[in-house]
Amino acid sequence: MGKIYHLIKEIARLIANHSIGNTLRKTFLRISGVKIGKKVFTNQGLVIVDNGKRNMVILEDYVTLAPRVTIVTRSSPYHIHPSLRKEDLPIKEARVVIGEGTWIGTNVTILPGVKIGKCCVIGANSLVTKDIPEYSIAIGIPAKPIKNLKDENNKLRQRK
Ligand SMILES: CC(C)(COP(=O)(O)OP(=O)(O)OC[C@H]1O[C@@H](n2cnc3c(N)ncnc32)[C@H](O)[C@@H]1OP(=O)(O)O)[C@@H](O)C(=O)NCCC(=O)NCCS
Repeated sequence: MGKIYHLIKEIARLIANHSIGNTLRKTFLRISGVKIGKKVFTNQGLVIVDNGKRNMVILEDYVTLAPRVTIVTRSSPYHIHPSLRKEDLPIKEARVVIGEGTWIGTNVTILPGVKIGKCCVIGANSLVTKDIPEYSIAIGIPAKPIKNLKDENNKLRQRK
């Protein structure tokens, strides 16, 4: 049963990766174990690296992913060289959560264990290595917040 279930998830992920439309892509991503809220937009070229466990990637409501986003929940070499010990390698496996209303720019990579807060914008080509606080615009390698969207909104309101 375990092996068949794993195979179904692998096939679902393969179909999701080759689906043109968002609706179809989300359907197969959900079957493959990704937790997806409502009004989520996924895009072409999405790469999710996980281990087949359910809910290792959570896309909350109103998340938008630009093309070619990579989400990694597990990093480890497939075969460990005989001269190395598993314990000495920086092997990691942890859930990635993208908070409600967050927009991820094109070519962004998100590493294991990262939680991106509510209503953030992650700039194109960023590498997200640590948690990002809610309402941040974050850019760069590693991604750092450069603006707070709530502050920007407050400034605009004060000007009116
Ligand atoms: C992050 C982003 C939203 C910032 O927009 P913004 O708030 O208008 O910021 P600005 O354009 O004023 O740029 C502010 C500074 O950050 C730099 N910057 C902007 N985006 C950057 C990025 N992705 N990576 C590195 N630096 C970036 C700018 O060069 C500028 O630097 P400076 O102050 O030294 O001149 C935007 O640049 C971006 O990356 N958007 C994603 C676009 C995308 O992926 N679209 C896909 C279709 S959904």
